Amino acid sequence: MADSGTEPRNTLSVRDNRTGKDYELDIHEGNVIRSMDLRQIRVHDDDFGMMAYDPAFTNTASTRSTVTEIDGGRGILRYRGYPIEQLAEKSSFLEVAYLLLKGELPKEDELDSWVHDVTYHTYIHENITKLLNGFRYDAHAMGILISSVGALSTFYPEAKEVDNAENRWVQITRMVAKMPTLAAFAYRHHQGLPYIYPENELSYTANFLNMLFRIGVSEYEPNPALERALDILFILHADHEQNCSTTTMRVIGSSKADPYSALAGSMAALYGPLHGGANEAVLRMLKEIGDVKHIPAFMESVRKGERRLMGFGHRVYKAYDPRASIIKEAAHDVFEVTGKNPLLEIALELEKIALQEDYFVERNLYPNVDFYSGLIYQAMGFPVEMFPVLFAIPRTVGWLSQWEEMLEDGEQKIARPRQVYVGEGERDYVPLGQR
Ligand code: CMC
Repeated sequence: MADSGTEPRNTLSVRDNRTGKDYELDIHEGNVIRSMDLRQIRVHDDDFGMMAYDPAFTNTASTRSTVTEIDGGRGILRYRGYPIEQLAEKSSFLEVAYLLLKGELPKEDELDSWVHDVTYHTYIHENITKLLNGFRYDAHAMGILISSVGALSTFYPEAKEVDNAENRWVQITRMVAKMPTLAAFAYRHHQGLPYIYPENELSYTANFLNMLFRIGVSEYEPNPALERALDILFILHADHEQNCSTTTMRVIGSSKADPYSALAGSMAALYGPLHGGANEAVLRMLKEIGDVKHIPAFMESVRKGERRLMGFGHRVYKAYDPRASIIKEAAHDVFEVTGKNPLLEIALELEKIALQEDYFVERNLYPNVDFYSGLIYQAMGFPVEMFPVLFAIPRTVGWLSQWEEMLEDGEQKIARPRQVYVGEGERDYVPLGQR
């Protein structure tokens, strides 16, 4: 509130009680102050100046972005302004990919040539298959995928020229196109099955399903309902603004590393159970619970803080995760084809309890995108190791959109946070025998 009698101004007044000095900081975009404006606040001229301390960046904006908007309080998610509900209902994954990467929905000819280009970059260098063959039979598909994406940087050394926009677009097309191939090959290696090469007349998701599940020379015809459900899941996972893996992409990319190396890094960040590994963790949790009769004991351990209810809670969404509602709908379509996943009953009961009980309500713990996606993937025949991989394929588009935006943003530099040093002061080295 402005003092009575003064005109409201877009500034923040700060009094440093150590010195009695007053400062006026500009407020940008409605509620943002620039951390660098704090630097002028100092006791002595040779002080470093004030800085903000924000472990895990819970209240720090690292960029201005036009890609994805989330209003966590109201459960809103929009890509380039388009509500996720409309895109999931009316669009296709590759159209959404174009929207995220280019900023606008494609015109018909633009979509045709984008789909064509993605379709014709699906093959990978044969030496990548040799690399895949080096992994143990039980290697996790995500580990294989991360390594093979990183290895691609050696096949496309020109990708290093990250300041050349045309060159970037070629690499972006390659990455979007090759991810399903690498993911399917990782799966086939894990299963001990021969690789199935891309078939360019199939859609993005149908081609992926074909490379995953075709056995022998027989035709594999993906069920159109499953093909569409996977496309919707890909749309829902395509971007989610400055999350852990996207921030990783931007941070690695800020050193001007090539995009394959940066992508491998973001995939590593995604792999953790608190992020893209959560859908795998949900399934393991549901299996461990095993029966609705074990739910009360499980919930008691969650309330005691001994366990986390995987697939619940979100750093940003505090009302509900709009993707979870769409996924719950898609789950019904999938289960009509595949039959009901037996773990669904446990999942529904957990959700019911969590939406009623104080512990979860007080902490805004609603189902997130990962709670039902794992059940769908399992019903479609994917082993749990493939779940984070199924997240990484569409999120590649988000990572690349954000990488592109970062490189075009004149305000960005190499990422380099500050620290508050709280360790020992200077002390003399103690020889080994005297410690
Ligand atoms: N189960 C039980 N309690 C929880 C959970 C949960 N899933 N999530 C948060 N809490 C509690 C937490 O213990 C804390 O309680 P208290 O205040 O008593 O200490 C409070 O809620 C706040 O938790 P937080 O850890 O400070 O919240 P955060 O914003 O740092 O964490 C989160 C967000 C997503 C990491 C967390 O909710 C979580 O671990 N969820 C389970 C994993 C999961 O489903 N991750 C997928 C996220 S969505 C997809 C993606 O982004 O990849």
